Amino acid sequence: MSTTIPTYTLNDGLQVPAIGFGTDRLKGAKGVLSIRQALTNGYRFLDTAYNYENEATVGVALRESGLNRQEVMISSKLPERYHAYDLAIPAIQESLYRAGLDYYDVYLIHWPDPKQDKYVEAWQALIDAKRFGLIRSIGVSNFHPDQLKRLVDETGVVPSLNQIQTHPYYIQDKLIKANNEHSILTQSWSPLGARMADDLLEKESIKVIGDKYGKSIGQVILRWHVQNGFMPIPRSSSPVRQKDNISIFDFELTDEDMSLLSSMAKPDGDIFG
Ligand SMILES: NC(=O)c1ccc[n+]([C@@H]2O[C@H](COP(=O)([O-])OP(=O)(O)OC[C@H]3O[C@@H](n4cnc5c(N)ncnc54)[C@H](OP(=O)(O)O)[C@@H]3O)[C@@H](O)[C@H]2O)c1
Repeated sequence: MSTTIPTYTLNDGLQVPAIGFGTDRLKGAKGVLSIRQALTNGYRFLDTAYNYENEATVGVALRESGLNRQEVMISSKLPERYHAYDLAIPAIQESLYRAGLDYYDVYLIHWPDPKQDKYVEAWQALIDAKRFGLIRSIGVSNFHPDQLKRLVDETGVVPSLNQIQTHPYYIQDKLIKANNEHSILTQSWSPLGARMADDLLEKESIKVIGDKYGKSIGQVILRWHVQNGFMPIPRSSSPVRQKDNISIFDFELTDEDMSLLSSMAKPDGDIFG
């Protein structure tokens, strides 16, 4: 990677790189190797979750990388079964023990689970965990505008980021608009569309755009995220694709390229159907 990674400043002042690395499914010795390679390839923000059962893998990869703790940002997520306040605080501590860390840079509520309706309690626990020094910045994932509003109305604390499924096939306009209204960073999960049927990564129309800049389809898609002000967190077990995915800061898509990618959204674009 030849260019430095730009940063976003979250609404609480924390600076995060404009691209992170997704670690879902990267587990055990192979997972450690992939995550270590991602760090070697320049990623400085790792996204994990209690539910991925690989917080330990992330912690081992960090220690084996030889980088200082302060050089790498690590983000994890609270599962819905621990939304009750008294369960949430020990779950966050357990999350830290698993990773062998003293603090997470970012910690999110994994999803609101509206049926259970305890996400405001979970949010209060994250607020307190930040106060206790266990977390530097607190955010949410998969939250809808009404749920964001409720957090703010009931606690006065605005999430720093909202991690939502975002890629050219699935652009959640209403959620993105609400994020922007609260100055919440949109972090894109499955930013490459997770290699679904009608694979985005094989789209001829995106290849044509990439050819103009000598860039791959994946690079064009990730650049689209960044130019939209999103923070993508692509996952790859391949060092070559890891490098490819992070090498997106030396070219710029035109308005026309951006519009073409944004026009690809489709009703069945949600990878969960
Ligand atoms: N908050 C949530 O609810 C939620 C839900 C889902 C995911 N996430 C987070 O978001 C991260 C990313 O999402 P994801 O892992 O579902 O999907 P993704 O990053 O969109 O896609 C990953 C897939 O694309 C392949 N790939 C990566 N770069 C490529 C490239 N340049 N060219 C061709 N293929 C490429 C990978 O295969 P190889 O490994 O073979 O390269 C892998 O199969 C996750 O790891 C997780 O951290 C969060």
